[in-house]
Amino acid sequence: MCGIVGFVGDQQAAPVLLEGLRQMEYRGYDSAGVAVRSEAKGLQIRKSKGRLQTLADLTHGGADLEGTLGIGHTRWATHGEPNDINAHPHVSGDGKIALVHNGIIENYLELKEQLTRQGVAFTSETDTEVVAHLLRFHYQECGNMLEAVGRCLRRIEGSYAFGIICSDYPNALIAARKDSPLIIGFGEGENFIASDATAIIRHTRDVAYMNDGEIAVLTAQSVDVFDDELNPLEKAHSRIDWDAASAEKGGFPHFMFKEILEQPEAVHKTISPRIREGRVVLDDIQFTADYVQSLSRIYMVACGSAYHAGVVGKYTWEKLLRRPVEVALASEFRYSEPLVDEHTLVIAISQSGETLDTMAALREAKRLGGRTLAICNAVGSSIAREAGDVLYTWAGPEIAVATSKGYSTQLAALNLVGLYLADLLGTVEKQEYDRMLAELQTLPEKMRTYLVNFEDTKYFASRFFHHDSIFFIGRNLDYAMGLEGSLKLKEISYIHSEAYASGELKHGTISLIEPGTLVVALGTCGALFEKAMSNVVEVKARGATVLAVTTESYRQRMEKIADGVLAVPETHPLLQPSLSIVPLQLFAYYVALQRGCDIDKPRNLAKSVTVE
Ligand code: G6P
Repeated sequence: MCGIVGFVGDQQAAPVLLEGLRQMEYRGYDSAGVAVRSEAKGLQIRKSKGRLQTLADLTHGGADLEGTLGIGHTRWATHGEPNDINAHPHVSGDGKIALVHNGIIENYLELKEQLTRQGVAFTSETDTEVVAHLLRFHYQECGNMLEAVGRCLRRIEGSYAFGIICSDYPNALIAARKDSPLIIGFGEGENFIASDATAIIRHTRDVAYMNDGEIAVLTAQSVDVFDDELNPLEKAHSRIDWDAASAEKGGFPHFMFKEILEQPEAVHKTISPRIREGRVVLDDIQFTADYVQSLSRIYMVACGSAYHAGVVGKYTWEKLLRRPVEVALASEFRYSEPLVDEHTLVIAISQSGETLDTMAALREAKRLGGRTLAICNAVGSSIAREAGDVLYTWAGPEIAVATSKGYSTQLAALNLVGLYLADLLGTVEKQEYDRMLAELQTLPEKMRTYLVNFEDTKYFASRFFHHDSIFFIGRNLDYAMGLEGSLKLKEISYIHSEAYASGELKHGTISLIEPGTLVVALGTCGALFEKAMSNVVEVKARGATVLAVTTESYRQRMEKIADGVLAVPETHPLLQPSLSIVPLQLFAYYVALQRGCDIDKPRNLAKSVTVE
């Protein structure tokens, strides 16, 4: 989704901005632009629809644009189609103020009407342009940019991260944030703003996370932060603990491929520091046995793959905790009058920590008096900061839009917290606890076993990539895996695909099975294997082609009836999803590769969805 970068220093700004935007390309965008100020030329704006390369070509890599102060933006269209005019930056009518914006201005129509009545002419269809004109109005009114920004923000409703420059302020970059991420980067004689740390990590790891309502004024030598009443604030600095290389492809053909292969390491990093002397130790969470006993309900709220991690979490936690666990789509939860009170624990799961719906669900849970725990990957992200407690997954930066290691580490974190709570509640026998914990620690190695030889996955992808509709079926945890496997496939290969609980087949879906339909049948749950086999027989009888995913010990039996079998190592039944997801990710990857899709940046999708 949209990306912001801003720079002020003593080197030419435009190449720095373009490089920052390039690092954020993975987020998904449909147009890009920069605004740079120089003494001789004033504000210079360049924008273009399509790939960032077009903008880079247009400006000769930024060399054409003079000036050491500027802002840049990659846009993911919400208001108005992707074109050169709607692309950011947007400029005030007098050409003095340029701004870039992430988020949505909800009252923009009302403001637009007021400004139109005052004679302002609009050139774009965006909500953002309204703010450029409004800012000019208040700047003319008070003659001070900071004050004008403060007045303007008081009039707008919605979510925003802004980067603003004004030709009257040759050395100042202004930033503001509400419900959309923005960080400040501190350099030597230069300073930055960015909506995503990847944009500035090559320049600095010394950052501060802006909070809602804050406004910052950056020059090459100083950073001053104010609250919404323009009172000065002290900001704590944080250090980004990953380096630029972890956000590089490092010789791999795609980030997604690299990230799939990184899963053993990411899961290991998430699990190993939290297991000590045969126990799960969560220093990050301070729950007492009494508190956990008092819980009447647990919710998991999330979007996309993180929601699918929650579906796995529901099955495993209900078995471990013997407590009701509901999993809810964050976008539905917030409007459903959820049954949350002080006896409710709400777990928000989010790789980016910036997904707007998950954030809103978290706030709703807090408003209703529930206790909240975030399972997040991005350190210092909004969800991580707003939740009562946070447990970080240590996946490192994830760049491909379709998540892989983000998802696996969410499963790992859910398994850890599940065991931790079960221990506090006393709902798991010691022997079972020990067995599960031991298996949890072997997961990275078992994942690796699969990841050193996946020729069969490649082969089946090359056999089945031409299908235009694929069904995933499974029961219980295998159904949860089907949901994620199907999402992976449709996200990156654009093949229509659906996941069904096998028991539901006869209630409708089976009518769609005809000769040649590809069904991916999951049968990794030992206790339900016979039922999985029956479902395979059932769809085969209607002419389906079946690719089965099972465990090594069931491979032979499955091979007798399925057209193809992908077998993963065996582990504790509740942990099996952590292994069975790997062939599904690779299958999606190779199918997309065969179809020539843009794997890391699938059409219309964004890495972190910061609008509703
Ligand atoms: C987007 C991404 C998905 C991700 C979902 C939730 O749709 O493409 O891969 O699962 O957002 O993201 P989050 O950052 O909250 O986990």
